[in-house]
Amino acid sequence: MGYCKIQCVHKTRSIWKIMLILCVPLSCVLIFRSLVFTFFVHLMPMSKCSLESGKMLTLDNAVDASLDLLSRPDVQTCTSWKAPIIWEGMFDPYLYDKEHKEEGSSVALIVFAVGRYLDVYLESFLNSSEHHFMLALPVTYYVFTDIPEKVPDIKLAPQRSLKVIKVERHSRWQDISMMRMKTISEVIEEDIRHHCTYVFCFDVDQVFSGRFGSEALGDTVALLHAHFYHLPKNLFTYDRNPKSTAYMETGDFYYHAAVFGGSWKSVKALTETCYQNIMEDKKNNVEALWHDESHLNKYLWLHKPSRVLSPEYCWDNSIGYSRDIQVTRLLWAPKYYDTLRTF
Ligand code: UDP
Ligand code: GAL
Ligand code: MN
Repeated sequence: MGYCKIQCVHKTRSIWKIMLILCVPLSCVLIFRSLVFTFFVHLMPMSKCSLESGKMLTLDNAVDASLDLLSRPDVQTCTSWKAPIIWEGMFDPYLYDKEHKEEGSSVALIVFAVGRYLDVYLESFLNSSEHHFMLALPVTYYVFTDIPEKVPDIKLAPQRSLKVIKVERHSRWQDISMMRMKTISEVIEEDIRHHCTYVFCFDVDQVFSGRFGSEALGDTVALLHAHFYHLPKNLFTYDRNPKSTAYMETGDFYYHAAVFGGSWKSVKALTETCYQNIMEDKKNNVEALWHDESHLNKYLWLHKPSRVLSPEYCWDNSIGYSRDIQVTRLLWAPKYYDTLRTF
């Protein structure tokens, strides 16, 4: 008996030793591979803005003419359809705040916190937003949740208010995410269009970490996905199923659905169309690869955004150091899919 016990302990120890010996070089190989990948990705040339001056842009507002498109030769500062891509160093925040205050701009921030996402993310999302999101302008939060009584009591600055609206909890997480399109278009029609000039829609699993200000306001605003802005188009994760209305062969950029916005009119048109296409897919028993994000990408391919935000506006720290990113304004929060998503 005793002999067998000693033998078993020895065996387990040896297995642990072998695993440890294997783990160290394996982790080194993985870290090295990811460093090499990041290095080569950044060696690949990004397309460059062909305009010399902000005056040549299709302007969302008068201040856009002052954008310094040449101040960031390392990155792409405008699109082929003459919309600016906003990076740190290109704009004067003071001029944007002044212009929007004079125009009387106001912003609706829409966020969904359904099921366990409320407990885990909402408080830090809202608190950080109070420190960084559109501080110069009146802001109304529209928080959609299935448990209104659980929404934390956040101390809001003057000119900022918060509305909590109850929504049903779809059983599939894919539907919780996709059906936001319907709810957003409805709340714009019923409420927002009477009170706010601009609308921004955010995923709740993120935290503001730097200025996310009025330089981001425009007619239709889309965000470059942090994981794809430096990759060749053939690696973009568009929906490739011809049976889906979100199907795309090619596109301009890969946009991230965690942040989009614009004038209430444009966001209403965008969300209505995406919702119709999602429902059309359901009728045909198909679901786009990245759900609402695939439909958003299709819409923005057919209706070009008037303003594009660099990945500073939604950065994932797990990507590691990138010299393109001089400021992080909004950061991905950790994902806990296993415990948060029900189905
Ligand atoms: N969401 C939610 N509850 C859920 C699933 C999703 O409130 O059970 C909302 C939440 O705002 C979340 C967004 O839908 O940020 C998109 O889902 P998720 O962030 O999980 O998608 P990912 O960014 O990981 O693709
Ligand atoms: C992931 C992200 C998803 C989706 C996907 C697209 O990095 O977590 O939300 O955007 O990229 O390929
Ligand atoms: Mn998310």
